[in-house]
Amino acid sequence: MTRSLSLLALGLLGGLSAGAAQADDLVARGAYLATAGDCAACHTADGGPAFAGGKAIATPIGAIIASNITPSTSAGIGGWSEAEFARALRRGVSRDGHNLYPAMPYTAYAGLTDADVKALYAYFEKGVQPVDDPAPATHLPFPFSVRASMKIWNLLFLKTATFAPDPAQSEAWNRGAYLAQTLAHCATCHTPRNALMAEKGGEALAGASLGTWYAPNITSDSTHGIGGWSQEALEAYLSTGRSGTGSQAGGPMLEAIDKSLSKLDPKDIAALATYIRDVPARSGDAAPGQTGKVAAKDMDVALRTGAAPAGAVLYDQHCATCHGASGTGGHGLPALVGNRALQRPTADNAVMTVLEGVLPESGQAMPAFASKLDDGQVAQLVTYLQEGFGDAGVKVTPERVAQLRAGGAPSGLLKLAQVGLIAAAVVLVLLILAALLLWRRRA
Ligand code: HEC
Ligand code: HEC
Ligand code: HEC
Repeated sequence: MTRSLSLLALGLLGGLSAGAAQADDLVARGAYLATAGDCAACHTADGGPAFAGGKAIATPIGAIIASNITPSTSAGIGGWSEAEFARALRRGVSRDGHNLYPAMPYTAYAGLTDADVKALYAYFEKGVQPVDDPAPATHLPFPFSVRASMKIWNLLFLKTATFAPDPAQSEAWNRGAYLAQTLAHCATCHTPRNALMAEKGGEALAGASLGTWYAPNITSDSTHGIGGWSQEALEAYLSTGRSGTGSQAGGPMLEAIDKSLSKLDPKDIAALATYIRDVPARSGDAAPGQTGKVAAKDMDVALRTGAAPAGAVLYDQHCATCHGASGTGGHGLPALVGNRALQRPTADNAVMTVLEGVLPESGQAMPAFASKLDDGQVAQLVTYLQEGFGDAGVKVTPERVAQLRAGGAPSGLLKLAQVGLIAAAVVLVLLILAALLLWRRRA
């Protein structure tokens, strides 16, 4: 009798701990998915506690504050049901029914499977430390303050279908497609947008400006995209920011790599690369011209004879120590001859690199020159680089440098907040116009 009781107790305990282990697994899986979704990029303020929000997302019409998504019942999402959490993540609707701005990338998360939402929910309810400080409220001026305008935008543009695997493709391809289209939200940055700021379906990943940084064409087009990259080169780029192809990640891409992609399972990186390399070729709006014809050696002579343009003198003073007098790099530092940053449809990334520097979490860094060079100098320098080492057809004006400097929020990711707001403004104006027309017809 005692024996069978203790056996029963043992069995119960075993069952309980198996249950607990399963719950732990779910939380661990959720933590991984939160990394893949880069939730911390927006929801963790610099130096602040994890996921407590408060990060102000600067936009031209005001700041949108990322919410506290810790399990605090007073300040965060503690006590939310799984259905409420799922609705916020995939439909952009908060617990009390108010609409979120698409600064929260619910348009990408909409494709998440129920199983993944469940794991994320388990993590945010059980794996995250509650923080009881509420994030400050977002106060936007009218008409942007009307969150309901997002309902119309959602009706027009939000695709609500869960990701559906393509049975004709491999398991790796489908895993890559799922990650790219949902959690890793590559299209949020790399796909051009229409006048209402929704992604253009027919031009997936063909390249788009984020206001400051330009997210280049990453379709399989061999001239404008990354069609020439091997599987290994793309895997290396996605996990380290370096590729051996003349591309190195800076700005928002480096941030996505440092905080999210570099922490993913190599199998998931391989899957992402498999899928991305298969994205149909599109030329986008870009037509890189001819690579600069000015031979690097001529520049040396020009410098010695004092016939060098102002840009060359600046290059020699500030850049040559690392990138080489002839732009050929070395000692692990990138060459500028043939550098992809100088073969884009815009020189914005070269300017942003000079202003902000490149500061990876590991490896060699490039210092920021924002305080050392004025707008005119940066324009001269980058135009010289374009002519000497890149696409000579692309020029930079001091006015553009001033603009980039002013809009140069530290994170291009955060600049995406504008997307929803501009859309909201346009929709509101359309609505007001429609209402006026109706009213005049009736009157
Ligand atoms: C690009 C920035 C960004 C990323 C990445 C991001 N969020 Fe958000 N999220 C926001 C912003 C901004 C808000 C508030 C939007 C508003 O007030 O309209 C928000 C709101 C939310 C809300 C609603 C909170 C509430 O109280 O209404 C939840 C839940 C949420 N995010 C969860 C997540 C999760 C989980 C992830 C990762 C899978 C994630 N977010 C990734 C920016 C982001
Ligand atoms: C927050 C915005 C953002 C997100 C999200 C993002 N990218 Fe990028 N990506 C950029 C920017 C900006 C650059 C240009 C970086 C530079 O020139 O230093 C870039 C560059 C790249 C490049 C280099 C292309 C070239 O020709 O040099 C590849 C490849 C790439 N991204 C792939 C991806 C993939 C795959 C994803 C999703 C897993 C992704 N990116 C998500 C903004 C983003
Ligand atoms: C202290 C060394 C150093 C100096 C000085 C320096 N750089 Fe860099 N540069 C780097 C490093 C490191 C990288 C990033 C390499 C990597 O991530 O592989 C880089 C990258 C770049 C890129 C490519 C960025 C991208 O995102 O694609 C450009 C363009 C560039 N530098 C231009 C310049 C110019 C112009 C100057 C002078 C104003 C300069 N660099 C000065 C070290 C330096």
